[in-house]
Amino acid sequence: MILVTGGAGFIGSHTCVELLNSGYDTVVLDNLCNSHIKSLERVERITGKKPVFIKADVRDREVLDRVFSTYDIECVIHFAGLKAVGESVAKPMEYFDNNLNSSLVLCDVMKKHGVKALVFSSSATVYSGDNEMPLYETSRTGNCTNPYGWTKYMSEQIFKALCTADPDMSVVLLRYFNPIGAHESGLIGEDPQGIPNNLLPYVAQTAVGRRERVTVHGNDYPTPDGTGVRDYIHVVDLARAHLCAVSYAVSHKGCDVFNIGTGRGSSVLDVIKAFSRACGKDVPYVIGPRRPGDLATVYADCTKAKEVLGFETKYDLEKMCIDAWNWQKNNPNGFAD
Ligand code: NAD
Ligand code: WQD
Repeated sequence: MILVTGGAGFIGSHTCVELLNSGYDTVVLDNLCNSHIKSLERVERITGKKPVFIKADVRDREVLDRVFSTYDIECVIHFAGLKAVGESVAKPMEYFDNNLNSSLVLCDVMKKHGVKALVFSSSATVYSGDNEMPLYETSRTGNCTNPYGWTKYMSEQIFKALCTADPDMSVVLLRYFNPIGAHESGLIGEDPQGIPNNLLPYVAQTAVGRRERVTVHGNDYPTPDGTGVRDYIHVVDLARAHLCAVSYAVSHKGCDVFNIGTGRGSSVLDVIKAFSRACGKDVPYVIGPRRPGDLATVYADCTKAKEVLGFETKYDLEKMCIDAWNWQKNNPNGFAD
């Protein structure tokens, strides 16, 4: 049995599909603070299997204790956390409390129950902004520009220290780049609340008519077309990376870290053009000023994940946009429809 914290969310729900399709039983623990229970009903529709669901906060030690007593947990995938960069600047204590205390309580309860394998959702945001590209797992980390980034950086430190203290412990830190796209069924996908902070959901909501136009945050960067370049990865590829990580975590000891991206960069205009092709109409945009804190170019070197985890991506930007559009057009208002 795999315990999936935050399993009702965007990446968690797609990972549940891959886990269930691969024969793993899953328990999802999620407080639904940024997700909808419908995502798990859709997971059941896709897979024909029902994940066990517990509505609770990962910081609730008693509930967690009961979960580990009730189910034979082989490995935990810890997705639960708050993730909005801007909100973390406005509400730092909420972010430190949620993201750090959930990691601490989880580790403590795992230790009590002798569960030794964990996969953690880290982020490319832990890399310092002054690195050369591509980013390697050995590139400089720290100098985070917002509390959210620090919670990922600090959680990594907590997990590393835990593995040093307990040589039987196994933690796989996955540093995700920019996950986008949706399951190709169009039944699950990204459903941000309010105005999207991230590029792809903003483009998708513009294409479906919920927003007037996309603002491109700067076209004077030192990149081929002047707009920011990122390493977008299809969420189903990312979900599959978790299967590799679980296999690795249960068969190795110690703490290891992997970049999970495609190793290819795409600009904001590349994304808008690919999405326009996917939806069959031009997505309107205007050029605006740079967004404070943004880097010109961010992409991963993914050699380590390929060589050590045996993980490779399958899908390109076209497919990411086709699947994101399929989800958006079938669910213009997300799971609220
Ligand atoms: P999401 O918000 O869709 O999913 C997170 C889930 O965790 C939600 O279902 C939410 O309800 C739940 N949750 C939050 N705090 C909780 C708590 N204390 N107890 C129980 N449940 C709680 O986000 P996502 O995009 O699926 O991201 C999953 C993880 O990956 C997060 O840790 C995020 O920081 C990390 N990550 C995301 C991205 C990205 O761009 N989406 C990139 C890098 C890393
Ligand atoms: C991508 C590009 C923008 C919106 C963030 C977090 C990071 C990680 C992923 C969790 C940039 C441009 C965006 C818009 C635009 N999350 N853009 N118009 O900034 O790479 O990463 O999400 O760990 O921590 O910081 O992703 O999607 O916000 O931006 O022009 O309306 O699109 O400037 O170049 P980012 P993003």
